[in-house]
Parts: sequence; structure tokens; C-alpha cells
Amino acid sequence: MTTAPVRLPEHLDHPFSPAGRINPHPAYRWLRTNDPVHHDAASGLWLVTGHADCQTVLRDPRFSAAKGQRERARDDALPPSMLTTDPPDHHRLRAPGALLLGPSAVRSVAGDLTRDVDELLDRLGRRPAAERPDAVADIGRPLATAVFGRLFGLAAAEYARFETLARAASINLDPMVPPARAALGRTAAAALTRYLDAHCATLARGGRAAPLAAFAADDRLTRSEMLGVLNLAVVGGWQPLAELVGNALCSLLPDRAAVRRLAAGDDTSGEGGDAGGEAARRAVDELLRLEAPIPFTARVTTDTVELAGGTLPAGARVLAVISAANRDPAVFADPDELRVDRHPNPHLAFGGGPHFCLAAQLVRQAGGLLLPRLLRRFPGMRGPHGVPDWDRCLVPRRLRVFPVDLGVPGADDKDPGTAEEDHG
Ligand code: HEM
Repeated sequence: MTTAPVRLPEHLDHPFSPAGRINPHPAYRWLRTNDPVHHDAASGLWLVTGHADCQTVLRDPRFSAAKGQRERARDDALPPSMLTTDPPDHHRLRAPGALLLGPSAVRSVAGDLTRDVDELLDRLGRRPAAERPDAVADIGRPLATAVFGRLFGLAAAEYARFETLARAASINLDPMVPPARAALGRTAAAALTRYLDAHCATLARGGRAAPLAAFAADDRLTRSEMLGVLNLAVVGGWQPLAELVGNALCSLLPDRAAVRRLAAGDDTSGEGGDAGGEAARRAVDELLRLEAPIPFTARVTTDTVELAGGTLPAGARVLAVISAANRDPAVFADPDELRVDRHPNPHLAFGGGPHFCLAAQLVRQAGGLLLPRLLRRFPGMRGPHGVPDWDRCLVPRRLRVFPVDLGVPGADDKDPGTAEEDHG
């Protein structure tokens, strides 16, 4: 007996439709409850929305990332990267990545990053009081560029060029862009590769000491494999990190109690102790849970797979819908609410299993460094009124703009606990 395909009720916008792209959560909530392993007739994809099932998709070897990520546009001249490779070869490509993104690499840039963040906040503070900086363009992007600048040992004069290349290549994050944009993405990825290749050559001739210098000098990868991993790191990392800031402030600023709590925490600079660092990192995790910059990721089944929510045939093109799993009430109490101290917080914003984001610690460090400092400096900061201006692209989940009112000039001198009345 064949069962009739399940359809979304008409009052809900399909998550890939123009309106659904802006707010996919109602549709994901319905799917998770009513058809957690859903065959989407329009795209031919299977949408897996429950937390436990998404964990299986990310960890079980019957779900191939190599096949699932094939449709992602990338630099054609490069060999497969670790995200487009399954174990055991995946491990060979991933292991040297620790030199670039592992704990000691992150520690080595922490002090410089703290200074970069303070300078970024100083620049914001010098703007005319009436100006409303855009959290995406004026905070998120400079933060992401500074992080890559430090990891890669870029001179400050190179930052603008790097950012232009990274932004252009970020088209490749979205596996569903139309062919013309995918072609642009491939050209941009090739330009980024040429730039990184030349920069690694400069480092090898005695450029700045930076994690990239050690990574590029390691001989476990061929040069083009090394460039493939770097390309993936920039395409997969620069924009999600940049978008983290706008997405986070959008969830955070309306909750004044959470703002004060985060502002009161210590920093995660690694300099002078780590008293409140853990609290800031937990807040970053919670903010990523609520609005994951990478809302889903693709796999293909190599066999029939029984999941708790339904059965997938062999060869199924599957999306593990991270942003649905991250609001699964079976795992998260009050899943649509922000709880900056949520712990444990087994969200999937960094993926899971063998492809778990190699930079998760770096992202927690950078976000946990920026957010408390930003809110201490501008305790009266407010977001725009009205519906947030979400972009229509599917990956990353991002705000087109998020203009913030920094609050009273000089408010940074006040105690964050008393500078703002509680509207929360
Ligand atoms: C908020 C920022 C970020 C988010 C939300 C994020 C999210 C993710 C997710 C969901 C995956 C798994 C993809 C999959 O399983 O198909 C992933 C993998 C990866 N991420 Fe991140 N990422 C972020 C930032 C970064 C940064 C800054 C870098 C590099 C500097 C980076 C490097 C990587 C790499 C290399 C992988 C592939 C790991 C592998 O295949 O073994 N990510 N990331």
C-alpha cells in the first residue's frame, strides 16, 4: 500500500518560498511535528527536522557528505575538500586543519583579536551620535575579517581586498543558487584560490608568524589540497562568522535582562583569566541555536535508512535541517525562547559527527569576546523596530541590514547594571 504524500498546510509558507525564506520556523515546526522525515515534492529533497534524526544524518556513515555536497559550486581546479569527502579520506584532509584552527592556533591569536575588537568598538564609539551603524556591515564583517586576518597573517592593508574576495566567494555557501550565480561563485572561488596561493608563498618567504604559516608548511597535504581546505575555510567560515553578529543582536537586544547579563560577564580573551568567558561562550551557543547561520546541510543515503521519524530510500537527497532540530521541544525546553545560560545546549549549529565545524572553538571565542565588550561599551544599544530584514538567500541565514542605535553617547562610562531601565 502506498501512502499519499504529506503536504504542508496552505496557510504555512514553504521554507524555500520567498516568504518562507524570511521566516521558515512555522513550517519547520509543523514538519517536525507532523512529518519529521518529509519528502518535498517541489525540490525532490527529503527534509529531516527532528533533533535525534538530524544527529543520525550527520553521524551515520550511510549518509554521504561527498555525494551530498556535490552540488555546491566551488573552484573547479581544486581537489575535493574535507567537507566533500567521506571517511577514511576525510580524516587525512581534516587532521592538518588543527594547525590552522586547533586550540593552540586559537590561543595564539587571542591577544591580537582582543585588541582588534577594542579598536573596532573605539571606531564605533567615534561615530556621530545620530548615526545608526549596521551590525552586519560595521561590526560582523570587520570582526570576521580581523579573525581571518590574524589566522592568515594578513597585513592590515590587505584586509579590504581579502574581504572583497571572501564576500564574492561566499555565493558558494548556498547550494540552491541559480546556475548564473553559481558560475559567478566558481570564478570568485578561483580568484580567492589565486590570492591565497600567493599569500602562502609570501608567508613561506618569511612573512608574519601566523597559524596559516604552520598549516601551509605542513607536508601531509598536497599544495592544491591545502588550498582546497583554505578555500573551504573562507567560504564556509567568513560569512557565517560575519552574520553571527547581526543574527545574535536581533535575538538578544529585545531581551534587556539577557543584555545586562551578558554585559556583566567577563571576556574570553585568554588574557587575565577567564572568569566569565564560559558564560559568554554559552550565550554564543544559545544565539547560534536560535538563528543558525547554516540552517541545513546536505547528504545522500548510500542505503535504505530507518529513522525514528520515517524511512529514507537509498540514494535519497537529504537535508539535515539544523534550524528545525535546534528548536526541537524534545531536547530544548521553551525552544523558541532565548536563554543565554542554557546548559547543556546540544544544538547542531556547528553540525555534528565527522564534519563538526573545525572552527567551533574559534567562533565561540570570537563571539564571546565581542558581545560582552560591545554591550558593556553601549549598554543602551537597541535594534530597529518592526520585522527583521532577513535576506532571501537560503544559506547563510542572514540579515540584510540590522541598524543599531548605540544609545547615549558616553554610556560606556556607566555601570551596565544601572544604565538601562528594564523593559524586558
Ligand atoms: C558562526 C560561524 C560558523 C558556523 C555556524 C559554522 C557551521 C558549520 C557547520 C554546520 C559545519 C558542518 C557542515 C556539514 O556537516 O555539512 C561546518 C563545517 C566546517 N566549518 Fe564551520 N561554521 C562557522 C564558522 C567557521 C569558520 C570561521 C571556519 C574557518 C575559519 C569554519 C570552518 C569549517 C570547516 C573547515 C568545516 C568542515 C569540517 C569537515 O568537513 O570536517 N567554520 N561549519
